[in-house]
Amino acid sequence: MTLLDVDDIHTYYEHSHILQGVSLRAEGGQVTALLGRNGVGKTTLIRSVIGFTPPRSGSIRFAGEPIERLASHAIARRGVGLVPQGRRIFPSLTVEENLRIGGLPGRSGRWSLDTVYELFPRLRERTGNYGGELSGGEQQMLAIGRALMSNPVLLLLDEPSEGLAPLIVRELERTMSRLKETGLAIVLVEQNLPLALAVADTAYIISKGRVVFHGDPDIIRTDDEVRTNHLGI
Ligand SMILES: Nc1ncnc2c1ncn2[C@@H]1O[C@H](COP(=O)(O)OP(=O)(O)OP(=O)(O)O)[C@@H](O)[C@H]1O
Ligand SMILES: [Mg+2]
Repeated sequence: MTLLDVDDIHTYYEHSHILQGVSLRAEGGQVTALLGRNGVGKTTLIRSVIGFTPPRSGSIRFAGEPIERLASHAIARRGVGLVPQGRRIFPSLTVEENLRIGGLPGRSGRWSLDTVYELFPRLRERTGNYGGELSGGEQQMLAIGRALMSNPVLLLLDEPSEGLAPLIVRELERTMSRLKETGLAIVLVEQNLPLALAVADTAYIISKGRVVFHGDPDIIRTDDEVRTNHLGI
């Protein structure tokens, strides 16, 4: 079932026309990878979906309903969770306070303080520590845990591996696999190609505000031309 259906959106920052007719679908329970070089519009697509920078034209449907005119809190209440690029945790709040902020009245389910701590035992040990005292890897767990607290149906993950050591990136891969096993759908923006290809069911590549590739992640793995032309690697 198509959970997220982005159809021909155009998104601007004032006069800058960033997304120039982007269409993308994310299926329920699947991981959809969104790849592309720096500055091509990946975060802008995420911001368009969550309502921070709504598209000027085109439509976005979530679970069959149009959401492109809704405020971001209303989009979140329908079941879209966000782990923003750079994590954006609150440095002067404790781990527990950061997690509680992610909860949404009226959205209950599998995820609570307790189950987030079961997923990330390290966060339980750090429950009273301030966000600013955590390592990069712990901050990423916190950002994911905070998003899970709203019991999303779809999780938008914007470059979760950015700035993390290889060992921590492997843990992140395991976390994403476990989340997928729970039935959660994920849109994953990643520059770490091995990570993205390891977990993705389908992949999109964006270049200069347009989708230039959509297909099986294996094609990106095996087709040198796709990688050189669209990712420059
Ligand atoms: N708030 C803003 N105001 C104006 N221009 C912006 C703003 N945010 C981003 N841009 C520009 O929009 C374009 C797309 O940015 P975006 O953040 O979506 O790229 P990205 O693919 O996420 O890149 P990265 O991989 O570096 O995170 C870039 O040229 C960027 O400079
Ligand atoms: Mg970005």
